[in-house]
Amino acid sequence: MNNFGGNWTYQKIKIIEDYAKAYLEIMKNRPYWKLLYFDGFAGSGEIRVDGPLDSTVIEGAAKKIVSIKEPKMFDICYFVELDKQKKKSLESSLRQIRDAGVHVVEGDCNRKLQDMANFLKSEKGKNHKVLAFIDPCGMEVDWTSIECLKGLSVDMWLLVPTGIGVNRLLKKDSHISEAWWQKLERFYGISRDLLIANFYSSIKTMTLFGEKQIVYKNPKAIQKIESIYTGRLKEVFNYVSKPYILKNNKQSIMFHFVLASNNEVATKIANDIIKKINI
Ligand SMILES: C[S@@+](CC[C@H](N)C(=O)[O-])C[C@H]1O[C@@H](n2cnc3c(N)ncnc32)[C@H](O)[C@@H]1O
Repeated sequence: MNNFGGNWTYQKIKIIEDYAKAYLEIMKNRPYWKLLYFDGFAGSGEIRVDGPLDSTVIEGAAKKIVSIKEPKMFDICYFVELDKQKKKSLESSLRQIRDAGVHVVEGDCNRKLQDMANFLKSEKGKNHKVLAFIDPCGMEVDWTSIECLKGLSVDMWLLVPTGIGVNRLLKKDSHISEAWWQKLERFYGISRDLLIANFYSSIKTMTLFGEKQIVYKNPKAIQKIESIYTGRLKEVFNYVSKPYILKNNKQSIMFHFVLASNNEVATKIANDIIKKINI
């Protein structure tokens, strides 16, 4: 079972569920399209949400989506989960809700996004539209996996680990290990020189023993992380929604949750859903 804390777990699932229903409402009169729901980080089917005093078990997004019957069902629901045990328990609980058209596979989301992109570009895939939910725990999604969706009929809700992932790797003194730089480069798909230029500045000062260079991390690093990533998303998709910002109980930003799409109406619907939750 996955274990998370906070109100934001409910909200994130509510956002994807509300959006899926709005999406299906629009698509119900367009029978030409085969509708594929792709969940790249599907989980086990249930989530333990830790509260201040106790914890509750809630249904994960996969069960919610597979339970949707009205206004119509997704033709295919495709769930990817890396962990063998979680994949097994998700599969058995989804089977109790719906069998036909539901696929649960063990694998890496990055690989499956590439496979999906290839399918959508093929003769067989060209009448398919996709709603994707990409809900990683951290920085598991490589930029190349997002980039391969360019020009395709995909609406993608993506959880961007601005505060918990990227910001933690960008150390204050810029002394970042080679492994972390490679992770940052894979995540953003841009060079470390560009990352350094965006996140650090330095000044030279004179000390008793000569010149010294002091490095400063951008004090608005999280906002910068989000704006650079949104900029990258806009190179692949025509539109990106406003974010739903997930904060922990100390009010520190953990993630930004956004919809990327080539359809302006999609981002308007997403913005309306987020606005209601932010009230
Ligand atoms: C945040 S949880 C997903 C929760 C889920 N969306 C839900 O509503 O229940 C992330 C899940 O992704 C899985 N995971 C981690 N890395 C992965 C990868 N590279 N590809 C696919 N799944 C992965 C983890 O085992 C974990 O179950």
